[in-house]
Amino acid sequence: MPEIDYLRISLIDKCNFRCQYCMPEGTELNYLLNQELLSDREIISLVRDVFIPLGFTKFRLTGGEPLLRPGVVDLVRAISQLPETEDIALTTNAFLLEKLAQPLYDAGLKRINISLDSLIPATFDKITGNRGKSRWQQTWQGILTAHQVGFDPLKLNVVVIPGINDTEILDLAALSIDRNWHIRFIEFMPIGNPELFGDKAWIDSEAIRNQLRHKWGLDESNITGNGPADVFKIPNAKGTVGFISQMSECFCDRCNRVRLSADGWLRPCLLNETGQIDLKTAVRSGVDLAELKTKISELLLLKPEINFKERDSGTDGTYTRTMSQIGG
Ligand code: GTP
Ligand code: 5AD
Ligand code: SF4
Repeated sequence: MPEIDYLRISLIDKCNFRCQYCMPEGTELNYLLNQELLSDREIISLVRDVFIPLGFTKFRLTGGEPLLRPGVVDLVRAISQLPETEDIALTTNAFLLEKLAQPLYDAGLKRINISLDSLIPATFDKITGNRGKSRWQQTWQGILTAHQVGFDPLKLNVVVIPGINDTEILDLAALSIDRNWHIRFIEFMPIGNPELFGDKAWIDSEAIRNQLRHKWGLDESNITGNGPADVFKIPNAKGTVGFISQMSECFCDRCNRVRLSADGWLRPCLLNETGQIDLKTAVRSGVDLAELKTKISELLLLKPEINFKERDSGTDGTYTRTMSQIGG
């Protein structure tokens, strides 16, 4: 089992998109009230006084849409300036990135992952639940700005939905050829909008790889990183193509992460909340930090067991939180 040293911190449960597979329009979500969110001070204190002493060195800010959180740039700066922070990253839909890319970079953010499910504005708007003026152009501009500012690596996440964007696989993969971009195809999971999943289900990563092999061949020397993606390369491409295959394979044995929700629940596994700890209540009630660290380290020891034992129980519709609430 790898060391668990990577904390994903959800900053907010709200989003400016309504992706069909995550929080479709009309879904009545009970958004958290401001006072229910961990404050900036609480997040920084948890990172500095609890997680870093427990050996965590990698932090990723997620949402909902993390760029909707006021003060996100200052939060990035505060975490990146902690001497033990080796890696700080952020996952975003890029809609607000054109203005924020440079300030985030200057504040110490170097890695960014962006959701981009389509290159066709109409399809993009359909997936992201947009009925007004197309939001594709502003999103694309956000991605280009992040590229110009120098984010490296810059990863683009594509959730492949049968019948909706599966005709664009080659066009999306081709984005990795001329720029050092890392395109990752994600198998759609039955989390967030089980109805959409029920109709369409998911496309196996191997079927996608076969399309790429047929078109370009694929360098299969498998440059696997430390995350959930299996990484390959289109021959001579500047970037890579990756596959996050949580439906067709189980990568729990290389899982190095836990998640902190915007309202302060520490959960050991994306797919399951077994053993989760309410850190917000703990911090607000003035709990002894040594006691809190002991509780968390006990959970980390249990995590491998939780991963494997509970992985499948989540796939039968028992999820109680959506991706936007957990933080992806
Ligand atoms: P890095 O490896 O740090 O670049 O990040 P990442 O790929 O883990 O982060 P990102 O936020 O881009 O996540 C992309 C997708 O990977 C998520 O939406 C999930 O679909 C999937 N994923 C990430 N972590 C896990 C995990 O622990 N379990 C499962 N089942 N899926 C995960
Ligand atoms: N299945 C797979 N990936 C999902 N994401 C959101 N919902 C799902 C789902 N049901 C992805 C987003 C984003 C990442 C954080 O999570 O596309 O890239
Ligand atoms: Fe990690 Fe759990 Fe997902 Fe397995 S199921 S990859 S352990 S979060």
